[in-house]
Amino acid sequence: MKAVEITSYGAPEVLRLTERPDPVAGAGELLIRVAAAGVNRPDVLQRKGMYPVPPGASDLPGLEVAGTIAQCDAAELAAAGFKIGDRVCALVAGGGYAELCVAPIAQCLPVPAGLSDTQAASLPETFFTVWSNVFDRARLQPGETFLVQGGTSGIGVTAIQMAKAAGATVIATAGSDDKCAACVRLGADHAINYRDKDFVEEVQRITAKRGVDVILDMVAGAYVARELKCLAEDGRLVIIAVQGGVDATFDAGMVLRRRLTISGSTLRPRPVAFKAAIAQALRAKVWPWIEAGRIKPEIYKMFPPGEAAQAHALMESNQHIGKLVLVW
Ligand SMILES: NC(=O)c1ccc[n+]([C@@H]2O[C@H](COP(=O)([O-])OP(=O)(O)OC[C@H]3O[C@@H](n4cnc5c(N)ncnc54)[C@H](OP(=O)(O)O)[C@@H]3O)[C@@H](O)[C@H]2O)c1
Repeated sequence: MKAVEITSYGAPEVLRLTERPDPVAGAGELLIRVAAAGVNRPDVLQRKGMYPVPPGASDLPGLEVAGTIAQCDAAELAAAGFKIGDRVCALVAGGGYAELCVAPIAQCLPVPAGLSDTQAASLPETFFTVWSNVFDRARLQPGETFLVQGGTSGIGVTAIQMAKAAGATVIATAGSDDKCAACVRLGADHAINYRDKDFVEEVQRITAKRGVDVILDMVAGAYVARELKCLAEDGRLVIIAVQGGVDATFDAGMVLRRRLTISGSTLRPRPVAFKAAIAQALRAKVWPWIEAGRIKPEIYKMFPPGEAAQAHALMESNQHIGKLVLVW
């Protein structure tokens, strides 16, 4: 099969289209003939040598794919309600940038009705991450107020739409007025250009000093102290990335006085059973929102796999709004 590999850690040019042996699905797995694969920031970190491959996972980058089922144990496939040739999308722990990709059956979902394979390939990584952190971990409830940093990131465009569909009031931050306009188009009730305005003051103004119930953060560092000032009583902060650094100094007394929760997680190293539970929740609760048109994939640009380096360079330029996808 053709695949995009990381030849050594470094700049986008270390990504190279190459030939690899076809993978074979083992017990509990199926083989997908990949039509498209999403590009995510963790792929960039992996390429730079900053995100180790979990034990047993493919060394090829790529955490999400969509395509058709090409091979699987017949009984296991039937038990999962799939058949050979069905269109699925899958969350994988690696190996997505390839013509063939092995996925745990439990991490596969049917392509939502009405979506192309390219659109479906843009879903799993951010939908699993947002569901796990915003709804399972931070327990966002209808009627609550939600703040997402990086509203036009792949994670952000999913978080805005999912929180809105769940009945929350949504505030998003982004680094330009164009990006803020995109956040509002995607359903955010308020968007803050964090380069022009202090997001703490803006959140206090928007919420009449009450604060927000849940924050999804991908910055950390100096943001943590400022985010605690944005939280309402019993507020929950979930950190999913540390783009602003790992060291944070904050008023711990505020955590006590206002009963705040600081949490976080990384999805990739979690066991299949954990991801399977998220897949079931997504299928039951979120797939109907997609099929009803309440949540739409937000794809900024598609690339042939031979141009994976250009896709990574675009991601690192932070120009994009939404997802980048490699299409075979
Ligand atoms: N923990 C997990 O399980 C998990 C899973 C998936 C992804 N992630 C992480 O989540 C983040 C987003 O991933 P992605 O694939 O969606 O990446 P992406 O599309 O490349 O988004 C990165 C975003 O970070 C924003 N950003 C950077 N500095 C910021 C700041 N100071 N304030 C507000 N926003 C800032 C950028 O927005 P502006 O241009 O507007 O600044 C950009 O939209 C990445 O850091 C990734 O590693 C974590």
